[in-house]
Amino acid sequence: MDKRLIYRLKEFYTLETFQVAYYQAQVDASTDEYYTKVFEKLVKIEQGHVDYFANKIELANETVPVLVGSMFDLAGSILGETAEAMGQMNTCKYGAALEKKAMQEYQTFIQECKENNYFTLNNDLMEYLLDEHFHALWLADYSEKLKENQ
Ligand SMILES: [Fe+2]
Ligand SMILES: [Fe+2]
Repeated sequence: MDKRLIYRLKEFYTLETFQVAYYQAQVDASTDEYYTKVFEKLVKIEQGHVDYFANKIELANETVPVLVGSMFDLAGSILGETAEAMGQMNTCKYGAALEKKAMQEYQTFIQECKENNYFTLNNDLMEYLLDEHFHALWLADYSEKLKENQ
Protein backbone atom coordinates (compact mmCIF):
# COMPACT_ATOMS: atom_id res chain seq x y z
CA MET A 1 0.00 0.00 0.00
CA ASP A 2 1.03 3.55 -0.72
CA LYS A 3 3.14 4.96 2.18
CA ARG A 4 1.24 8.22 2.14
CA LEU A 5 -2.05 6.38 2.50
CA ILE A 6 -0.74 4.33 5.44
CA TYR A 7 0.35 7.55 7.10
CA ARG A 8 -3.10 9.07 6.62
CA LEU A 9 -4.87 5.97 7.98
CA LYS A 10 -2.70 6.15 11.09
CA GLU A 11 -3.46 9.86 11.47
CA PHE A 12 -7.20 9.20 11.30
CA TYR A 13 -6.89 6.30 13.70
CA THR A 14 -5.32 8.71 16.19
CA LEU A 15 -7.88 11.45 15.57
CA GLU A 16 -10.78 9.06 16.08
CA THR A 17 -9.19 7.58 19.20
CA PHE A 18 -9.06 11.08 20.63
CA GLN A 19 -12.77 11.51 19.88
CA VAL A 20 -13.57 8.29 21.74
CA ALA A 21 -11.53 9.50 24.74
CA TYR A 22 -13.25 12.90 24.71
CA TYR A 23 -16.75 11.44 24.64
CA GLN A 24 -15.97 8.64 27.10
CA ALA A 25 -14.76 11.29 29.56
CA GLN A 26 -18.17 13.01 29.26
CA VAL A 27 -19.98 9.71 29.90
CA ASP A 28 -17.84 9.06 32.98
CA ALA A 29 -18.42 12.56 34.39
CA SER A 30 -22.14 12.79 33.59
CA THR A 31 -24.98 12.25 36.04
CA ASP A 32 -27.66 13.37 33.55
CA GLU A 33 -29.52 10.45 31.90
CA TYR A 34 -30.11 12.01 28.47
CA TYR A 35 -26.66 13.55 28.28
CA THR A 36 -25.07 10.21 29.19
CA LYS A 37 -27.09 8.40 26.50
CA VAL A 38 -26.03 10.85 23.83
CA PHE A 39 -22.37 10.51 24.67
CA GLU A 40 -22.57 6.74 24.92
CA LYS A 41 -23.95 6.79 21.39
CA LEU A 42 -21.13 9.08 20.24
CA VAL A 43 -18.54 6.76 21.82
CA LYS A 44 -20.06 3.80 19.98
CA ILE A 45 -19.97 5.53 16.60
CA GLU A 46 -16.46 6.93 17.08
CA GLN A 47 -15.26 3.50 18.22
CA GLY A 48 -16.62 2.16 14.93
CA HIS A 49 -14.46 4.72 13.11
CA VAL A 50 -11.42 3.72 15.19
CA ASP A 51 -11.96 0.03 14.42
CA TYR A 52 -12.33 0.75 10.72
CA PHE A 53 -8.95 2.50 10.50
CA ALA A 54 -7.29 -0.12 12.73
CA ASN A 55 -8.58 -2.83 10.41
CA LYS A 56 -7.31 -1.04 7.29
CA ILE A 57 -3.87 -0.62 8.87
CA GLU A 58 -3.73 -4.28 9.90
CA LEU A 59 -4.85 -5.44 6.45
CA ALA A 60 -1.89 -3.55 5.00
CA ASN A 61 0.39 -5.49 7.40
CA GLU A 62 1.28 -2.31 9.21
CA THR A 63 1.21 -1.73 12.97
CA VAL A 64 -1.56 0.24 14.57
CA PRO A 65 0.07 3.25 16.34
CA VAL A 66 1.41 1.94 19.66
CA LEU A 67 1.42 5.24 21.55
CA VAL A 68 -2.33 5.37 21.35
CA GLY A 69 -2.98 3.10 24.35
CA SER A 70 -1.23 5.40 26.80
CA MET A 71 -2.35 8.50 24.89
CA PHE A 72 -5.91 7.31 25.30
CA ASP A 73 -5.48 7.06 29.09
CA LEU A 74 -3.72 10.40 29.22
CA ALA A 75 -6.38 12.15 27.14
CA GLY A 76 -9.10 10.44 29.17
CA SER A 77 -7.72 11.61 32.51
CA ILE A 78 -7.13 15.18 31.32
CA LEU A 79 -10.54 15.35 29.71
CA GLY A 80 -12.22 13.73 32.70
CA GLU A 81 -10.93 16.49 34.96
CA THR A 82 -11.94 19.24 32.56
CA ALA A 83 -15.37 17.73 31.82
CA GLU A 84 -16.81 18.81 35.15
CA ALA A 85 -15.00 22.13 35.27
CA MET A 86 -16.09 23.07 31.74
CA GLY A 87 -19.75 22.26 32.23
CA GLN A 88 -22.13 20.82 29.63
CA MET A 89 -22.49 23.98 27.54
CA ASN A 90 -18.77 24.48 26.96
CA THR A 91 -18.20 20.78 26.53
CA CYS A 92 -20.76 20.72 23.72
CA LYS A 93 -19.40 23.90 22.20
CA TYR A 94 -15.85 22.56 22.20
CA GLY A 95 -17.11 19.19 20.96
CA ALA A 96 -18.83 20.89 18.02
CA ALA A 97 -15.56 22.66 17.17
CA LEU A 98 -13.69 19.33 17.32
CA GLU A 99 -16.26 17.74 15.03
CA LYS A 100 -15.99 20.60 12.53
CA LYS A 101 -12.23 20.15 12.53
CA ALA A 102 -12.71 16.41 11.93
CA MET A 103 -15.06 17.22 9.04
CA GLN A 104 -12.38 19.37 7.39
CA GLU A 105 -9.88 16.53 7.81
CA TYR A 106 -12.32 14.09 6.22
CA GLN A 107 -13.00 16.44 3.32
CA THR A 108 -9.27 16.70 2.61
CA PHE A 109 -8.84 12.92 2.83
CA ILE A 110 -11.83 12.36 0.52
CA GLN A 111 -10.26 14.74 -1.99
CA GLU A 112 -7.02 12.73 -1.85
CA CYS A 113 -9.00 9.51 -2.43
CA LYS A 114 -10.64 11.03 -5.50
CA GLU A 115 -7.27 12.02 -6.92
CA ASN A 116 -5.97 8.47 -6.38
CA ASN A 117 -9.14 6.61 -7.41
CA TYR A 118 -9.61 4.98 -3.99
CA PHE A 119 -13.31 4.45 -4.58
CA THR A 120 -14.18 2.21 -1.62
CA LEU A 121 -12.26 4.32 0.84
CA ASN A 122 -13.83 7.45 -0.65
CA ASN A 123 -17.29 6.00 -0.01
CA ASP A 124 -16.54 4.90 3.58
CA LEU A 125 -14.98 8.24 4.45
CA MET A 126 -18.06 10.00 3.12
CA GLU A 127 -20.17 7.97 5.58
CA TYR A 128 -17.94 9.03 8.45
CA LEU A 129 -17.93 12.63 7.30
CA LEU A 130 -21.71 12.49 7.58
CA ASP A 131 -21.49 10.98 11.08
CA GLU A 132 -19.24 13.86 12.14
CA HIS A 133 -21.62 16.36 10.55
CA PHE A 134 -24.56 14.98 12.58
CA HIS A 135 -22.44 15.08 15.73
CA ALA A 136 -21.41 18.68 15.07
CA LEU A 137 -25.04 19.70 14.55
CA TRP A 138 -26.29 17.99 17.70
CA LEU A 139 -23.50 19.44 19.84
CA ALA A 140 -23.97 22.96 18.49
CA ASP A 141 -27.75 22.74 18.94
CA TYR A 142 -27.51 21.41 22.49
CA SER A 143 -24.98 24.01 23.55
CA GLU A 144 -27.36 26.71 22.19
CA LYS A 145 -30.25 25.23 24.19
CA LEU A 146 -28.19 25.20 27.36
CA LYS A 147 -27.22 28.81 26.72
CA GLU A 148 -30.87 29.86 26.34
CA ASN A 149 -31.81 28.12 29.57
CA GLN A 150 -29.04 29.75 31.58
FE1 LIG B 1 -15.31 9.95 14.10
FE1 LIG C 1 -17.85 12.52 15.60
